[in-house]
This record gives sequence, C-alpha cells and structure tokens, in this order.
Amino acid sequence: MNIFIKDAARHIGSDVVIRGWMFNKRSSGKIHFLEMRDGTGTIQGIVFVPNVKPEVAEKAAKLTIESSIALTGTITKHPKLTDTYELQVKDIQIYNLAPDNYPIGKKEHGPDFLLEHRHLWLRSAKQAAIQRIRNTIINATYEYLNAHGFIKIDSPILTPAACEGTTELFEIKYFDEGNAYLTQSGQLYLEAAIASVGRCFDFGPVFRAEKSKTRRHLTEFWMMDAEAAFVEHEENLKIQEELITYIVEKCLERNTEDFKTLERDTAPLKKIKPPFYRKMHAEAVKELREMGSDITEDIDLGGDDETMLSQKYDKPIFVEKYPAKVKAFYMKRDPEDETRALCADLLAPEGYGEIIGGSQREDDYETLLKRIHEHKLPEEAFKWYLDLRKYGSVPHSGFGYGLERIVTWICGLHHVRESIPFPLTLNRIYP
Ligand code: 4AD
Ligand code: MG
Repeated sequence: MNIFIKDAARHIGSDVVIRGWMFNKRSSGKIHFLEMRDGTGTIQGIVFVPNVKPEVAEKAAKLTIESSIALTGTITKHPKLTDTYELQVKDIQIYNLAPDNYPIGKKEHGPDFLLEHRHLWLRSAKQAAIQRIRNTIINATYEYLNAHGFIKIDSPILTPAACEGTTELFEIKYFDEGNAYLTQSGQLYLEAAIASVGRCFDFGPVFRAEKSKTRRHLTEFWMMDAEAAFVEHEENLKIQEELITYIVEKCLERNTEDFKTLERDTAPLKKIKPPFYRKMHAEAVKELREMGSDITEDIDLGGDDETMLSQKYDKPIFVEKYPAKVKAFYMKRDPEDETRALCADLLAPEGYGEIIGGSQREDDYETLLKRIHEHKLPEEAFKWYLDLRKYGSVPHSGFGYGLERIVTWICGLHHVRESIPFPLTLNRIYP
C-alpha cells in the first residue's frame, strides 16, 4: 500500500510503499541508511544487506542524493526517539538515478548560487517549510475574509492605466489599442465591485518596475486587496488588525514543525494580538528623529525608518495620516487637516516594516477629478473610475497586503526573495 511519510505512525508493523526522493545516505558494513523525503516528511529506510535479495542491496549501494525512489518495507518505531519511525526496507524501485553531483550540498552556498539553482533549492527542508507557511497564510486569509462577508472578485492583470503611480509600470503593447500595463494592485477594480457585492477582495500577482534593490522589494509579488463599502478609516484598521491576528494564530497552530525547521523563535509571534500600536505620521517622524533619522514631516518613511521604528515595538504599528502629497491620488483627505491622507501603513515588528498599505478612498466626484489632474493622470483612462463617484458613491475603504512581506516576517527570514517560489528581482528573471 502506498502511504505518505506523515502517516507512518498509523502503519506500524504494516508493509507499505513510500515514494519520494533520497536526501541522504550512510552505509556502514552490512547496513545502508537511506534517508528519504516525500513532501510530507522524512523517514529513514534501513537496508540490512543479509536480509534482502542481492539486487536490492546493489540498488541501495548505488543510490545517490536526489534519486527518485519507491521503498517497500515495514514501518517500525525508532528504538530510541519518540514520534520517529523507520522503514525496514525489503525492496527498492528506482525511478531515476540522479548523477552523483547534486549542486546543492551541505556546505554553505552564497545567495546568487542558490537563486541560480532556485528550481533545486526549493527542495531543501527550510524552503519547503516556508512554502507550507505561505500556504497557511493564503488559506487563513480566505477563511477570515469569507467569514467576514468579503467575497473574492478577480481583478485583471493587464490594465490600461496605473493604480499606484506611473514610475513603476511594466508596459506592453496591446494590439491596436496602444499600451497596456501589468497591474500594480487590483484596488480600483474592487472599488467598482463593492457597489455590486458590498465587500470583496482579490489575491494575485502584481508587478512593480521598481529599481529598488532592497531586502523588501520584488518586481513580481502577490497582493491581497480588500475593499468594503460603508467602511471608514477606523473600521478599516480594525479589519486589518483582526485579519493579521487570525493569520498569525493559524500559522502558530498549523505550522509548529515548520517553525522548528526554520529555527524561528515563535515567542514574538505569540504576542500578536489586538490592539496594535497606532501612531500619527507626525508622531512617528518626531520619534524617528529622536532616534537619529533625518526624516522630515513632509516625506514618506524610508526603509531604514521602518526598520528602526518596527524594531522598537513588540506588535505591529499603524502609522496613520501621511502627508497627502506622498500618497496615491485616490486617498481621501483628513477633514481635520487637508494636507493629510486618511490612510495607514501597517508595519510588522522585529524590524520587518511595511506589510499593508490602506486608506479611505475619495468618494466625491469633483475632488477625485481634481486629484487626477493634480497627479497628471490621463482622465480618459479613469472615466470608469470617476463613474463610480457618479452613480451611488458611498464612503469606502480598503487595504492591500504584500504576501511575501508577511511570509518573510512570520518565517523570520532576512530577505523577501525566499518567501516566493520563484523570486523576480531587478537583475534576476531566471529560473
Ligand atoms: O502600499 P502599496 O503600494 O498599496 C497599494 O498598492 C494599494 N493599492 C493597496 C490597497 O489599498 N488595496 O502596496 C501594498 C503592499 C505593501 O504594503 C507591501 O506589503 C507590498 O504591497 N509591496 C511589495 N512587496 C514586495 N515587493 C514590492 N516591490 C512591494 N511593493 C509593495
Ligand atoms: Mg505602501
């Protein structure tokens, strides 16, 4: 019977077949220890030469790292370790005998080498653990949003105009229609959809032709945008706080082993509970200047500022009401101070920095039109977006999270490039 390694405990004493890949081998005298993995776990297969047919012993002797195999045998409990099982091998099937030169070894490799071999690097234990945590984050997001009345609305990837400013657009030729752009965020389309379904979210790849080479930037990454009718600034923050808390809680529940594999200290994650810290941009600037930053009142937080501020606190921090002129055209202004936007960025603790950007949206036709002109955006391309302010405009808000930023934080990684299966950065598109 074929089984997965994770289910080994249920099959003690039975004859089973396990299919997977060799990740280590030791031989001593009459015994070969074949360590294999199958995507659900790892197990040691023991080939005791005097007990098996000569051809089985021969196969065991020639097996190499990353060969694909099926081992047939009996599951036994490890003589010393609890919750550990072994396979007493009776037969071996080799699907593919890999050449004995697997590029990724036990020694340390540099990041360039690993990225060049991302297709193989992905197989290593830590990389698989990251992908499993990423999977939990994705599922938890769907669970939370669905349970709170948000339905999934898929926004387009190819668009006629910019969402987040024109300097970071990937441009392509679109038949006879002129230029099209790879989307930076589905937000504007969700704003159309809320008038249909009330609350919605999208989740998909977005693109930023950013020339930034930092540990936080990718050129292709996955964004979840959420948007809700009749939700204003305060409630918008509350939804984000609850969503992030839910995600962290589910990872702690479902990925205990993966955190161990990653050697991620989970104590800081256990503190992630509402209420999160809140700070006006002006206050954050003051605090940062006291800490030695040269940031001023009228600018955005830089990467180093985010690091400094978020290292100081043990829970996520909302930085609210940025100067309107450094933020996107669609943000509603603070009625108490027209120079400020009704927005917030959420910074993850431990120095991770921005994971969410969100705001209340401008819902007045004339004001929005004025902003489109101020930002020198093509009015024609935004006609449909302006229509939304003509026909049944309502106060509404939303936010977008960067999946890779969240994975990086929760997994405790240094660089965002390990959080996505195949990272695309300024100077890398291979593999
Ligand atoms: O702050 P951003 O640019 O906000 C928007 O795009 C809004 N339209 C979202 C919305 O309100 N629906 O991007 C949102 C998040 C950031 O907080 C960050 O986590 C992530 O996307 N992000 C990136 N992640 C990786 N690489 C990049 N180059 C990123 N740029 C933004
Ligand atoms: Mg942002």
